[in-house]
Amino acid sequence: MKNLSNYKINHKKVLFRADLNVPVVDGKITDLSRILVIKSSIEKLIENKNKIFIIAHFGRPKGEVTKKYSLKFILSSLADILKVQKVHFLENLNKENISNKIDEMEQGEICLVENIRFEKSEEKIDLVFAKNISRLFDVYVNDAFSASHRNHTSIIGFAKYIPAVAGNHLINEIHNINTFLEKSKKPNLAIVGGSKISTKINLLNNLIQQFSCIVIGGAMANTFLLSNNIKVRKSLVEKDLVNQAKNIQKKAIQLNCRLILPKDVICGKNIEDKNPSEFNINEIPSSYMILDIGSKTTALINKEVNNSKTVLWNGPLGAFEYKPYDKATNKIALNIRKNAKKLSINTLAGGGDTISSIKNANAEDGFDYISNAGGAFLEWLEGNQSPGVIAIEKNNLS
Ligand code: 3PG
Repeated sequence: MKNLSNYKINHKKVLFRADLNVPVVDGKITDLSRILVIKSSIEKLIENKNKIFIIAHFGRPKGEVTKKYSLKFILSSLADILKVQKVHFLENLNKENISNKIDEMEQGEICLVENIRFEKSEEKIDLVFAKNISRLFDVYVNDAFSASHRNHTSIIGFAKYIPAVAGNHLINEIHNINTFLEKSKKPNLAIVGGSKISTKINLLNNLIQQFSCIVIGGAMANTFLLSNNIKVRKSLVEKDLVNQAKNIQKKAIQLNCRLILPKDVICGKNIEDKNPSEFNINEIPSSYMILDIGSKTTALINKEVNNSKTVLWNGPLGAFEYKPYDKATNKIALNIRKNAKKLSINTLAGGGDTISSIKNANAEDGFDYISNAGGAFLEWLEGNQSPGVIAIEKNNLS
């Protein structure tokens, strides 16, 4: 696969796919890591005097120009982090506008292109569009592993017409995730949380074949509890997936993979309730909903972690954004921080909420690697091929 170390890009016009889908609360970026990770590739391209056009998406505007999803707000953070005086901006991928901008830019300058998902051509893979745009450039660089699971024009289209090269962060993500999976020594433990089992069925079906033990937490555990006839009361459940939950449990037994479900839980009357109560799962009163796992289950998981050689984590175990329902996730993250290095446990975490919850616990240090990909991380773990990575691998233009 061509990358920035084995393929020279000097004095070229570069189409650079980044993932700038950053988390924003009240108009402020709450986590800059998706900008930080492209720094190394961009610096190299600047050093080699290229004109760099950064293409990225933000949210899901579905081909409509929507002010709320404009990428303009990111310009100043981009300039600060990339340490450049100026970042040009291009409102759309109109051919004439691109040519004018290329003429206006000096070698080694950057231009951010407005949200690529404002283009109707982005999500339907428009190869005519891809061909027309890519002809104005010399090379395409993909540094957006976290968006490379999408079959979109900016992920696979441009790579059909000009040399396609992997950025440093994309290479880093693949290397770290693959190294972890290859080294995954038994007993290995997967901690899977999050709110929806529907998004994790394929992952669970794959993990039960490879892991000695899987902890299931977060609201998705409620559907598993319900499938075992536990009265989960007002808790969030996906009733239509009760059978899937049963099947996964049956399969796990056949494959000798232990599943750990909550044995006790922390509940509130609603998600805003600041006076939580702890119950064994068979004793949840009718007016309560499960919002976190309980202290006995947390202690059990920490014991499992400390007895494992490998730990994979995807998804928080409670409604961690609503304190105090971040307690179990924090305790487990802090146990990993305290013990992983000491006990030589290999650790990998990934997924948007997972990163936030580990940061919330101040436990990033405990992990060998934290992927900043969400859906792309899950798909890679499920064993699916990444369209973006394949597009670079197949590209034989030079
Ligand atoms: C992400 O945030 O996981 C990526 O940017 C992909 O976003 P998408 O799920 O909207 O394609």
